[in-house]
Amino acid sequence: MMSNCTLLRWTHLESAEDIARTAAERVSRIAQHAITERGCFSLVLAGGSTPAAAYAQLATIKADWQRWHIYFGDERCLPTDHPERNSRMAAETLLSKVPIPADQIHPIPAELGAERGAELYSKTIHSALPFDLVLLGIGEDGHTASLFPDHEESAATPVIAVHQAPKPPADRISLSSTTLGNCRQLIYLVSGTGKQTAVHRWMEGDPLPVSRIQSMGESEVLIDRDAMPANTP
Ligand code: 6PG
Repeated sequence: MMSNCTLLRWTHLESAEDIARTAAERVSRIAQHAITERGCFSLVLAGGSTPAAAYAQLATIKADWQRWHIYFGDERCLPTDHPERNSRMAAETLLSKVPIPADQIHPIPAELGAERGAELYSKTIHSALPFDLVLLGIGEDGHTASLFPDHEESAATPVIAVHQAPKPPADRISLSSTTLGNCRQLIYLVSGTGKQTAVHRWMEGDPLPVSRIQSMGESEVLIDRDAMPANTP
């Protein structure tokens, strides 16, 4: 499996705030271009905590929100209103603050359980591919979305039921690396000293889940100083 590391544009920023601001600028520009070219913009949101500040920034921009379509890269198998749901974080920081039509926001039905939710979501995303933009984070072990080390995935399965995830909760749903790469552009948001080891391994070409994803077009890593491995030039 070839690492995507050599295909990435690494953008070094000073702080998490710089990542949030730059990410919002990138998403805004990509959205405008997609809407000009194709009349709509499909965005896959990353989960976890890093993107929250970027989503809050995004909520302040002027955009043709009626033409935005929102998907999720992964979800935790928790009730829809659970504070640890990725869909709840996105709603609180962005989706409750902008007028994207409700039927254009597509949360992963992970409350139905990993298998059922994955089956339903694979039908939901089928007509949306390729996505215009996918946002992703990276975990300290090199996972991304809910694709974890030592977890097998099949290219034939576009949306994966995940069990025994090392990052709680154990049961999750994730777009596969093939599906996540089925996009025109991809941006990783990487912040904090906890990510240094995973970033170093990624740069070294280690076979990590984050290394598996290759977009159809440009892929960029927005990374702050804290997340860069020591002694990086
Ligand atoms: C999740 C996320 C996960 C996240 C990374 C980084 O559901 O947990 O999708 O892949 O992006 O674990 O998380 P932080 O941004 O909180 O460091």
